[in-house]
Amino acid sequence: MVLEVKNLTKSFHGQQVLKGIDLSVDAGDATVILGPSGAGKTTLLRCMNFLETADGGEITFDGRTRPIQEMTKKEIRAYRMNTAFVFQGFNLFLNKNALANVTEGLTVVRKTDKATAKRIGMEALARVGLADHADKYPHQLSGGQQQRVAIARALATDPEIIFFDEPTSALDPELTGEVLSVMRSLAADGMTMLIVTHEIEFARTVSNRIVFMEDGRVVEAGETKRIFTHPEKERTTAFLKLQETLSKEEEQP
Ligand SMILES: Nc1ncnc2c1ncn2[C@@H]1O[C@H](COP(=O)(O)OP(=O)(O)O)[C@@H](O)[C@H]1O
Ligand SMILES: [Mg+2]
Repeated sequence: MVLEVKNLTKSFHGQQVLKGIDLSVDAGDATVILGPSGAGKTTLLRCMNFLETADGGEITFDGRTRPIQEMTKKEIRAYRMNTAFVFQGFNLFLNKNALANVTEGLTVVRKTDKATAKRIGMEALARVGLADHADKYPHQLSGGQQQRVAIARALATDPEIIFFDEPTSALDPELTGEVLSVMRSLAADGMTMLIVTHEIEFARTVSNRIVFMEDGRVVEAGETKRIFTHPEKERTTAFLKLQETLSKEEEQP
């Protein structure tokens, strides 16, 4: 097991949006979190990467279990050095080229020397098929390419897990495929990933685990094949049916 959270809770302005989430990720898992808008998926990922501080719960990482509320800044920093986050909106520095975006976390945060950072950065860009675009600025790249730069940035720090929050939902449909195909190849390489997405075909064919969330709770979780063939909860069945209908409609010309 790479990462586990237990009884994670979070409220905004007195409204509880995470109502005690249990979730664990094994090494090499590509876990997809599915669920309707407002379910708390983004909040869960942000809490798991300490972009947001949960109100309660505990987290197990590197074999150590810690109540989130008791974690020191140093512990959180150490944890975050081993995780990476890919945002819906890419979050690239617009005044830095692709390579500089990818190496930023190495040179600034990790104090990696420039030559090593460049080598690692170029390797990461090559892995997402952008070795030829290293000196381009975000405005010279398509949305799909920008998101692949963001994935390269995540890879460059050699994280134990990468969180993806709807990585293709800001993209035009024709650019979604290139990002999903990079993610598919990472999954095949055994990268541990926790992915929020509405791409149901991607979830069905690439993930090995599904977590279905609604209203701040995990409704059902399990092996992908089982969830798609024999969901136990009616809500899961209904959600999957709706998503499949929507994705078929999208395929129509
Ligand atoms: N920063 C915030 N401040 C206040 N409410 C928030 C904030 N972030 C999320 N919420 C609320 O929490 C709930 C869950 O949101 P979110 O985690 O974004 O769900 P999802 O990603 O599943 O669509 C929603 O009702 C949303 O309005
Ligand atoms: Mg969201």
